[in-house]
Formats: sequence, C-alpha cells, structure tokens
Amino acid sequence: MVTRYALTLLRPLLMAASAVFFMTVFQSCASSQDDEERRMDRFVSSLMKKMTIEEKVGQLVQIPANFTTGPEVETGDYKKAIAEGYVGSMLNVEGAAETRKYQELAMQSRLKIPLLFGKDVIHGYRTGFPVPIGEAASFDLEAIERSARCAAREAAASGIHWTFAPMVDVGWDSRWGRVMEGAGEDPYYGAAVARARVRGFQGDDLSDTLTILSCVKHFAAYGAPIAGKEYNSVDMSMGQFANFYMLPYKAGIEAGAATVMSAFNDFCSVPCTVNRQLLRDILKDDWGFDGFVVSDYNSLGEVINHRCAADGREAARKGIEAGLDMEMSTDCYSSHLAGLVREKEVPMKLLDDAVRRILEQKYRLGLFEDPFRYSSEAREKSIVSSAESHADALYVSERSVVLLKNEGNILPLSPDVKTVALVGGLSKSAHDMCAKWSCADERLAVTLYDAMMRRDVEVLYNEGYNLDTDEILDMEKTLADVRKADVAVVAIGERGEYSGEMRSRGDIEIAREQQELVQAIAATGTPTVVLLMCGRPVIFNEARQAAGSVLCTWWLGSEAGNAICNVLWGDYNPSGKLPATFPLHHGQIPIYYQYKSTGRPASNGWWHSRYMDIPNEPAYPFGYGLSYTEFSYSDLQVLPGDGKDVHARVSVKVANTGSRSGEEVVQLYVRDEVAAITRPVKELKGFRKIALDPGETAEVVFDITDAQLGFWTESLEYVVEPGDFTFMAGTDSEHFLSGGFTLEESLHLKMKER
Ligand code: GLC
Repeated sequence: MVTRYALTLLRPLLMAASAVFFMTVFQSCASSQDDEERRMDRFVSSLMKKMTIEEKVGQLVQIPANFTTGPEVETGDYKKAIAEGYVGSMLNVEGAAETRKYQELAMQSRLKIPLLFGKDVIHGYRTGFPVPIGEAASFDLEAIERSARCAAREAAASGIHWTFAPMVDVGWDSRWGRVMEGAGEDPYYGAAVARARVRGFQGDDLSDTLTILSCVKHFAAYGAPIAGKEYNSVDMSMGQFANFYMLPYKAGIEAGAATVMSAFNDFCSVPCTVNRQLLRDILKDDWGFDGFVVSDYNSLGEVINHRCAADGREAARKGIEAGLDMEMSTDCYSSHLAGLVREKEVPMKLLDDAVRRILEQKYRLGLFEDPFRYSSEAREKSIVSSAESHADALYVSERSVVLLKNEGNILPLSPDVKTVALVGGLSKSAHDMCAKWSCADERLAVTLYDAMMRRDVEVLYNEGYNLDTDEILDMEKTLADVRKADVAVVAIGERGEYSGEMRSRGDIEIAREQQELVQAIAATGTPTVVLLMCGRPVIFNEARQAAGSVLCTWWLGSEAGNAICNVLWGDYNPSGKLPATFPLHHGQIPIYYQYKSTGRPASNGWWHSRYMDIPNEPAYPFGYGLSYTEFSYSDLQVLPGDGKDVHARVSVKVANTGSRSGEEVVQLYVRDEVAAITRPVKELKGFRKIALDPGETAEVVFDITDAQLGFWTESLEYVVEPGDFTFMAGTDSEHFLSGGFTLEESLHLKMKER
C-alpha cells in the first residue's frame, strides 16, 4: 500500500523532473545549433570583408570539366582562374584523386576558399539504383531514403560535395523523356519522395563526410513542356502550378535542401533563371529558403536565346536581381558582374547575399576546416561499390518492380520449372540496365542473364531481336527453344538511352517487331512472361494482351538481374505501384488520374468529355500494381477527428486473403465535392505500405487535416472551405471503397480564426 501511495506521490515528481531534463537537453541542442550558426556567420562575414569584388564574383562561377551535360561552351584557362580564386565550383569532377588535384589548385589562391564539387548523382553513384521513376514505384519512402543515403555515401567518398538531385518535377506527359528522373504524376506523392531524397542525401549533419548537399530541381514546372517537347515553353496559371506542380519543390525546401536549380523553361513568360517571382518572392521570401540557387547548364547565357536579354551583361544583371546565386557553365557573371557592381547598376548587397549563401554551404560541409576532407582515396576504396551498397541496391530494386498482369498465376515460377526460354538482348545489357544519368560501374552490374544462369534451371537464351534496329533475329530458333521450355521470359522495352534529358519522343510505343515476337512466343502455348524495361510509361498493348504475365521492371541498375530473378521466383513478392498513368493510345497524352470533372464529365456517353475514336481509360491507372497474393478492403469508416487539427479519420480494413505474405500500398484519395474553383475528380492525399501474412488483417487509419482538404488560389493562398468531401481508400486510383464527410462551417470558422 505504502509503495503504491509513494508511487502516487512520486509519479508527478518524476514526470516534472523528466520534463525539465528533456527541456534542458532540447534547449542545449538548440542553443548549440544557434552557437554554430553564430560561429558560421562570424567566419563568413570576416572572410567576405577580405574579398575583392572579383573574388566575390568568382564564388558565383561554376565550371564544367571532363565532359559536358549541355551545349559546349568556352571555359577558357579555368585552371588559372581557379588558382587565382575566381572559380567557386566545378561540375563533373569526380574521384578522390581528381578532386584533391583541383582543390590543391584552389589552395594556391590568396584566400584559399575551397571549391565545391557537384555532379548528377541521380540514381546511385558507382552502385546503380533504379531510375527514379522506378524507385518511386516502390511507394516505400524508407527504401527511397536508403537509396539516396547510399548514393551520398559513395559520392562523398569520391570527393563529391553536392548532387544535382532530387529532380522533383511533376510530369503528366510521358513523351517527355525526363519523366524518368522524377517521381511521376502526383504532387502529394512527389512531395513525399522529395522529402525522403533530401533527407537521404543530406542526413542530419552536412559536416558528416557520408552526406552531401542536395539540389531540388528544376524550379519550376519543367515537367510541363508544351506537347512534351524537351526545353519547350511552359504555360500555366499560378493556381495550376500551385495545385499540381509546386508541392514537391516546397517539400524539398522544407526538408532542408541546401540548393535549388533553376529550370531551362520560361514560367509566366519569364525564363525561370531570371524569374524574380519564382526565385526571390516565392522561394527565398515566402518559403524562407536560405541555401543557394544554381542555374541549369548554360541557362543564364540562354536567356539571350529566350530573347529576354540582349547580351551577357543584361543576363547577368537580370540573374543577380532575380536571385540566381551561381551560374553553371556560361560566363555572364564572370564577364560582367564585377563591372555592373562597380558601375552601381547592381547593388553590392545582391552580390554579397549570393556569396554568403554559397560560402555558408561550404562552411557547413566543413571545407574551411579541411578542404580535402572528402578526397580520401582510402575511404573511397572502402566505401564505393561495397557489399553494403549492393545490398541496398537489391533491396530497393526488388521493391520497384510492378506486377501488371499474372493470368493463370504463371508467376512466381514454380520449382517444377526446369527450363526457361530467355528471350531479348536487353537481358544481357548492363549498359541499358544502368540507363541514363548513370554513374554506375557497369562491370559490376548483374544482368538478368547473369542472375538467371545462377538459378537451378536450364536457360535457353535467344537474342530475339536486334537491339538497335528491332529486326527480329532467327525467329524459328527462338520459337523452337520456347516450345522446349516450361516458361518463356521475354525482355522487351525501349533502350536505357531512350529516356532522360533530350529524350522527348513523339512515339512511345514499344517496337512493333518486339510485340510481334511476344505474340508469336505466346502463340506456341508456352506460358509467357513479359518483362517491360523502360524509363517512362510506354504503350505496348499487343505484347501485354498476348502475355500471360507482365512485370514492369523499369531500369533497375547494378542489381537488376538479381532483383528480377528474386521476383520471378517469388523470393520477393512484387509490391510496386505505378507512379504514373500508362496510356492506351498516344492520342490520350497527356493523361493523368487527377483530371477535372468539366461541365460534361468524362464518360463514353454522348455529349460527354471523350474522344470519337479512342476510349478515355488508360492501359494502367495511377497507383496500379498486383501481388502474388490477394488483398481485400472492407469496412471503410469516416470517424470524428480531435476537434483541433484532425477534422476526421478515415479507417479501412485490409486483409491478405491469399496464400503468400505480401505488401500492399493502401492509397487514400479525396474529392472536394463543391468548391470555389474546379477541383480534380480525386487526389492522392495519403498512402501507407503495409506487410500482411496470409489471413492477416490490418486497420489502416488516415488523419484528415487541412493538408488533405484545401487548395491553392491564384494568389498562392491555401484555402480550406467547409462542405462535403468524399474519401476513397483502396488499391489504386480506380479501385477503392468510399465514404462521405462534411466539414462544418463552425469548424471552418474556427480554422479561419487561427
Ligand atoms: C543538365 C540538366 C540538369 C543537370 C545539369 C548538370 O542540362 O538539365 O538536370 O543537373 O545539366 O549536368
């Protein structure tokens, strides 16, 4: 009794004591962070006091080395400029030895300000990971963060301080080749992926030599070029931008991204690179971004091509006024900025602001303490291409594969399968598996052929078709082997080089010859599995209708072969979902799930939004993906919120009704039934990837807050209106349970008071 009584007295004291302890710890962490910021501020301020105008301008200059990722420009004797302190950053310099060499040059300068080394580490470094759209198909944020963390670890060990990633451009038009580099068509999911990738690259401490600066790109709306044509103009209202394209950029900044890259395109008729509304008003003033903005490759000089600057001098003036802090590869700043400042056409404070932003990132990386701290060949040797990296790559690659079809449950391949007819040269191509923006060491990549040869089956391999011309090769021999086999596995697709920058294509259909080959193989009666290898949504109707099973494997990188075989044989039950709609016909493009109702809602009825000659429906909808097991949804309920920030809760039960353990991405969509502006028929506002054993049921609950209910206005205000909403929870954007909810006026008024 006494004990319990004592405990009764003691408990509040213990709680008070622990509250004081944690507050003290929290405050001391916060104050040490403040101290660190003050120390950085003092250091940078005192350094800037010593800098000449030319040395300040030098920090805004980034020079490409070794190879270009854009049109060639004259870079002059940049090594001399580095030694004189007139270059702040290099791109495409990599390796502990080479970065050390350039850093030693920079240490010859008067103030010894270290160089910043940047590179496109887009989906892994020497260990290649799935192309970003493929990784996004995992809907596994931990896996995505793990991928970025591994890329950062290997890049940092190779002397690289900064990656030009994540690319977070929302893309609705798969004719645009760079949909490969993003997270698909949805802004809510794109924002979640942006956060995960920034966290993965930067970690919690930029001075840790396993982390690197991230770069949210391309700001802004580069993913919406008219007609899907690369570098084409972008034309949208501010409201369209805010509701469908803005969130991933904003999320990346809120996650602490150190840098932003301006986009090639114009936005509201002003080139992004000199767009003050984007770079200063929205990014730096409204969002409080305190990192620095780098142009895209030549994009400041290309303002002249946009015909928004008469010459490099005007481009330089417009760039610094708009908030562009660093110029990649062209020489507007290095040629004109010092003169503009001297002639008082540009106030010194604009130059100082840019310089400070850049020096602060160098300080945070610890480069002033030790400019060579990332350039250790010993560390490079122990970290790059390690077993840990390959394990990370396999983990992420398996989860990126999407099962699109599995009639007759051909998959997973049973132990009775003794002979596999493997068709398609892509199954042997490490180069294609690593795809565009690859830094991977292809010698270490495991192709599908390599991995399948290690399985306990007889592999009858045939190239099937010429990888360059698609001409069918030795059809009779291929079909003869297929007839001998227990199963045919056919690798088809676009080449790894066919998606990425400068890869817009008017025709995104898989080659007719490849599809005819699939039809001929399936016609033999041998169970046929198609592996679709691609960097974007493609059209492949004949092949997917002929095959019994279809896996979308994207381009999976260094562990592609092991990942695909693990899925084929069921060592991993595929759990991916499509992050972008797959069109049925070119005429539907751009096609996306969050379309608006219109005054005559889309249907196949007359006087409705549709085509005369093709259906509205896609080949595969956003969020679609099957499993080797089955999941059933039941009992969707809309429950009360907490009366404060949570206005309601949506609960749904998900059961694994099949015979295998598996993972399901439970998706929550919301429809605002009546609003002041036109709203989409549905929008993704939540998702949860859950693992269930056979017979297991889980209850998944989504909190409904302002974030799920509101929209952005033309003046960039976020508005939540009272009224009716419909919640839909299910397995993809077309298969779900739904329930209604009314946001009361009173609650709305309460929200307005806040
Ligand atoms: C390219 C790309 C950009 C990349 C940069 C540096 O043109 O647009 O995404 O980061 O140049 O390679």
